[in-house]
Amino acid sequence: MSTTNKINLIPAVSEIRIKDSIFTLTANTAIGVSCEEILNKGSLLRDYLIQSTGYELPLSLGRDSHISLVLTEESIEQQNEMTDESYTITVSDAQCRLEAPTEAGLARAIQSFRQLLPREIFSDVIQKNIQWTIQGCEITDSPRFRWRGIHLDVCRHFFTKEEVLKFIDTLALYKFNRLHLHLTEDQGWRLEIKKYPRLTEVGAFRDSTLIGHALDRPKRYEDKPYGGFYTQDDIREIVAYASEREIIIVPEIDMPGHMQAAISAYPELGCTDQTLKPLCHWGICEHILNVEDSTVEFMKDVLDEVMELFPGKYIHIGGDEALKYQWEESRRIQDRMLELGVKSEEELQSWFIRQMAGHIQSKGREVIGWDEILEGGLADGAAVMSWRGEKGGIEAVGKGHNVVMTPEEFVYFDHYQGEKETEALAIHGFTPLEKVYNYEIIPDQLPPDQHHFIMGSQGQIWTEYIPDFHHLQYMVFPRAIALSENLWIQKENKDVTSFIERFNIHCEILDKLGVNYKK
Ligand code: ACM
Repeated sequence: MSTTNKINLIPAVSEIRIKDSIFTLTANTAIGVSCEEILNKGSLLRDYLIQSTGYELPLSLGRDSHISLVLTEESIEQQNEMTDESYTITVSDAQCRLEAPTEAGLARAIQSFRQLLPREIFSDVIQKNIQWTIQGCEITDSPRFRWRGIHLDVCRHFFTKEEVLKFIDTLALYKFNRLHLHLTEDQGWRLEIKKYPRLTEVGAFRDSTLIGHALDRPKRYEDKPYGGFYTQDDIREIVAYASEREIIIVPEIDMPGHMQAAISAYPELGCTDQTLKPLCHWGICEHILNVEDSTVEFMKDVLDEVMELFPGKYIHIGGDEALKYQWEESRRIQDRMLELGVKSEEELQSWFIRQMAGHIQSKGREVIGWDEILEGGLADGAAVMSWRGEKGGIEAVGKGHNVVMTPEEFVYFDHYQGEKETEALAIHGFTPLEKVYNYEIIPDQLPPDQHHFIMGSQGQIWTEYIPDFHHLQYMVFPRAIALSENLWIQKENKDVTSFIERFNIHCEILDKLGVNYKK
């Protein structure tokens, strides 16, 4: 036996002991599950194996099958942000046993199991003449962080339901557990809301789209309507697909700024008499929601439909980059501030966010927002995504709030990842793979007894300069894969050289899966 990881797993596992045995998967291999609850996990595994092997492996209840999935504890609360994702895998000549206390743990075990097989397993056509062998081993594994996410802006550019499902497949392979969908923006509203159909009828389509960088002058536009949105049925399908893979979709409705598309559809939500249309270029825009009771009610109605569709605990209410000029200049808003007894525009934003937070919490859910929600006072119980560096995260932790570390400098995957001259146009920045891998997610300043407030981290993909899915994948991979290992393994086990060696093998896996990435 050896304790070295000869096997090319990403993320690396906590412990692996290599044994002399070899398990061979054949057409006669049977899959068993320990209880009915996890039949869906058995099917997931069977579906993964059928494409390249061609074997229609039988699936049944029982603990002694050749491949055995075992849930070790009963009645597990799902969708809990503290879900235990640990698992073990034991491979001997006769049996592969995957055990975990939760379905989430089994899902992670299944992804490790796929990676233990010859890489031809990832092909989508039947592979002849392959010995489907697995090196005997004992694996014990669990993640360092409980929030391992990727954020995706589907507004600046839209990605179809099929593309989102394919994206989820790749995230699942690397054991991510959150996909944060940024669903609303100045440039497009992408989620069907039954009570307010104009949000998508009007808000989901813009007249044209900026060509080149937002700072280029003169501005040039592609003079062609652009848009799209997810129906509620699409969302149900995406949520269910992600859930089978134990990924929680975190929906974001960004307010009170980034709302030009919504105000275009329902002008009564805005602060001016201007007739608006969804924005056609990039940058921060001055249009902001008003704070009338009717607007608060409108947004609560929207959130009600959002909470119906997305079962996860956290609902993201944005809060970033809300310019306050229109609030400063509006007589009505200034009167309203007096009425509400708030002394500054920052406090007014806080008041607005608290209305949303209270509503969301009254339905048993929790709120998360960008670090600007700290500015006029943080709503009770709200979690924070610290994007303008680590400062907001440290401040929120100091107040006893949960935090997801999302600092621009380290985990914004819309930044350049190579020399500017050799890369397609990106927004700015330079965030190569090594920087993502070596980023230490827990800020140095935090004392150990506060570390638990750091739920984890996630990569951000803003899509102003990402026009299609092929380029999206190029920007995300392999940086997201580096982040997946950073989030999963203990700090002292990080080794970027080992990661790159293993990633070089994973390139063949991504090729077989038809996933684009930066070489
Ligand atoms: C952000 O990047 N505006 C959160």
